[in-house]
Formats: sequence, structure tokens, C-alpha cells
Amino acid sequence: MTAGFIPPHPPRGSGPVPVWRGFVGERARTAVYGWSNQAFEKWYIERNVFGHRVHIVMHPDMVQRVLLDNAANYEKPKLVKKLLKPVIGRGLLSSDGELWRAQRKIVAASFAPPAVDALVPVFGEVAASAVAKWTSGARDMAREATRATMQVISSALFSGDPRLTSEEAMEHIAHALEGVSEARMQLLLGLPMIPISPRGFRGRRGQVYLRRTLSTLVHERMRPGAPDDFVTQMIRALHGRFPEHEAVELAVDNAATFYLAGHETTANAISWTLFILSEQPQWQEHASHEAAAALATGVDSELPNRLPVLRMIVDEVLRLYPSAPRFDREAVADDRIGEIDVNAGDFVSIWPWLIHRHRKLWDDPDTFDPERFSPSRKDERHRFQYLPFGAGPRTCVGARFAMAEGLTILACWLAKWRFKPMPGHEVRVSGMVTLRPKGGLPLMMERR
Ligand code: HEM
Repeated sequence: MTAGFIPPHPPRGSGPVPVWRGFVGERARTAVYGWSNQAFEKWYIERNVFGHRVHIVMHPDMVQRVLLDNAANYEKPKLVKKLLKPVIGRGLLSSDGELWRAQRKIVAASFAPPAVDALVPVFGEVAASAVAKWTSGARDMAREATRATMQVISSALFSGDPRLTSEEAMEHIAHALEGVSEARMQLLLGLPMIPISPRGFRGRRGQVYLRRTLSTLVHERMRPGAPDDFVTQMIRALHGRFPEHEAVELAVDNAATFYLAGHETTANAISWTLFILSEQPQWQEHASHEAAAALATGVDSELPNRLPVLRMIVDEVLRLYPSAPRFDREAVADDRIGEIDVNAGDFVSIWPWLIHRHRKLWDDPDTFDPERFSPSRKDERHRFQYLPFGAGPRTCVGARFAMAEGLTILACWLAKWRFKPMPGHEVRVSGMVTLRPKGGLPLMMERR
């Protein structure tokens, strides 16, 4: 295999970066921009962000304390809930305590292994329908990946409702996510969350479009004769647990949560994998031959298990470009994390971006090396040093879904097509909520 490939990451200075830099220029648009070299060597960084004390914990034992051992003490921050409220309300991702537990229980069966495995043929159909339209030449693969994962989420959870996969929906969703970054700054500064720039206004329009579309869909599903899919079952279960008005509100919140959390992240994982494989032709050939052999017996629920090389590649891609580069908690009561005293109300910030590239946790941390994830080397890692899907009770409920989906789509595409870099295009990281290739991912494609 080609040795020592270091895929692009934002430049790193030598000294700590002042907090205010997070609110101007590229750092305000890209969560992983502006970290110094030191940040990848420390076990702990304390920051004060406009009066909020923030503990950034990097040691896996500290992460374990927050996400597992004392997880009940660490809730989703009120600020984050406020920020996400116009988009995903009090759904599974943005609730805590009993409300969270009840919702997690309601959706659990839909994401259990048998339910997810049964969806593999759906993933395969979506992948195949994309390929059917391709011709050789240049193509924005980030857009293709987003279109495919939107189609998957709509087919798998919403009976393929076309309102969720139109070009209009795609534009509105992209804007809604961008709008969240602008609102984040206003919120931290204690300003009201009203749009102040064209980006903010587009973001607000995107959010309104999403909520209105999903609200209409939820009301339709409450009438007799609606398809008996994930949303309908969820609505029924919520009605059995909550008063009418709250059940409807939570149904829309969760429809938005699953629609958004369920496609953006996976689309980014697929895009980053295609980008890295375009730069690593030997790994691409290896993955392509494996995919062709695995697909020879069809797209069945066992397909993901026939792709061990591709799985190692995707694991490594999620290490280097974790779709969720950070996630935060707020301490409910005082606690001690290792040597650190945490006060009630403090934020604790977990950064897969830093932990996954930490110099004391990984050899050659910036180098692409899928062999790290060969099953025989599993014991070399601490359970809390690799967190693309989070960990503990709040771990991603869609992790198995995402992996099966990503592997199936990639296998179908790699078996039939060869991807090469686009001459003259520099790939850069972008995104405040999720990590995506800045301005898309144009690649050159050839039919195999
Ligand atoms: C590569 C793809 C994905 C990545 C990297 C990812 C990452 C994550 C992470 C890191 C968390 C935990 C956040 C925290 O602890 O604060 C999370 C939670 C969650 N994810 Fe994913 N996710 C992916 C795909 C999906 C898919 C496909 C779905 C649904 C179909 C989904 C739905 C959710 C939900 C609902 C939660 C909240 C769970 C809870 O709080 O109980 N995700 N995801």
C-alpha cells in the first residue's frame, strides 16, 4: 500500500489560540480550524468562552467518566438545546432524563440489528439508482452522497416520501445547517437568535421549510390508511406515552432529528472515504475487488460482513474526519474528572477531532492507515479513544444503520467505478456542526 499518506487538515500554529479567534474568519465557519500543535498533545484544556467555563477532556479515562461512569451528571447543554430547538426541538438528540429515556425506548427496535440488517437491500437499491445516471468525467461526489443518504433515510424511515428528497429540500437543509453556526455565535454572546445576515436568513427559511414539511407529514400519518413505517409507528408509540399535543410536537421533533442526523453525517463519511480512496489508488483497488466479490452473491443483509477491508477503511476515515468533530455536555452537579474539579453548570467538551489525532494515543496520528483497525489490533486501543459515534448511553442510535448504509453504498459504487482526484482542486475541511469537504468534492470518474 502507498506509505505515509497524510490527508489535508487545517494548518496548526505552535501556541494556544485565543478564544476570540473562534468568532472570526475561518475558525467561525470550521469547528476544527485554528487548533495549535499543543492541543494534540495535552490531556486537558480549560477555556473560558464568554463567561462559560469549558473543560476540554482528551484522556480516554476522563472521557469515560463523562460519557459512561458518571453519565447521569452530564446533560446536553441548555445553550445547545436552545440553539437546536428551532430545528429538532426536544427530540431524542436534544433531550435528557426521562424524556430522553422514553424516546430512546420508542425508537430502539427500529435500530436494533435485525431491523437494520433487513434494510441492506434498500441501501443497495438507492446506490444502484444513483449509478444508473452517471457518466464518465467530473462529478461532485459530496452532492451524490448527500442525495443518496437523503434517499435512504426517506425510503427506510419515511416510506420514500418525495418531499424529503427534492432538490429544493436539499438546498433548504444545507442552508438550515449553515444557519445554526450563525445562531451559535449570537447565543454565546447573549444576543437574541434572530437572523442578521443573508446566511442567517437563508438558514431560517431552511429551518421553516423543514419543520413545515415534516409537520404536514406527521399530520398525514395520523389519518387512517397511512403507511405503517418508522414515523407512523413512532407517532403511535408517542401517543401511548404523552398527551396529544406533546406527542405531535415530539413526533415532528424526532422526524426532523432522524431526517437530519440520519443523512448528513453518513453522507460526509461516504464523501471522505471516496476522497481518500481517490488519493490512495492501491487501497481503492483492494476495496473495489473486495466489493465486486461481495456483491457477486447479491445485496443481502450479510453484505456488510463480506467487506472487512472496506470496513477498516471507513473506520480509519471516521477517525481522521469524524462527521461529528465535537459534542458537549453540561455538568448537573459538581464532579471530579481525574484531577479536575468541575462545577455544576460548567461545560465539558469532547472533541473526537483532537482525541482521534492525539499524539499520545496514536502512532503517526495524521497518517491514513486502515491497518490500525484490523480486528487483531482491537486490544491496542482504549475504548474511549475512538468515538466517531460517541459512547455510553447517548451513543449514536443509528451507528449500525450508518455503517451498513455507508458500506453498502460504497461497495456498489466502488465495484463499478474508479475515482480519481480532480486536477487543480484542493480539498479542504469545512463545517461547524458536521465535517464536510468545503465547496463539495469534485472527483474524476471512470467506469470499470
Ligand atoms: C457516520 C454516520 C454518523 C455519525 C458519525 C454519527 C455520530 C453521532 C454521535 C457522535 C452521536 C452522539 C452525540 C453526543 O453524544 O452528544 C450521535 C447521536 C445520535 N445519532 Fe448519529 N451519527 C451517524 C449516523 C446516524 C444515523 C444514520 C442516524 C439515524 C438514522 C443517527 C441518529 C442519531 C441520533 C438520534 C442520536 C442521538 C442519540 C441519543 O442521544 O440517544 N446518526 N450520532
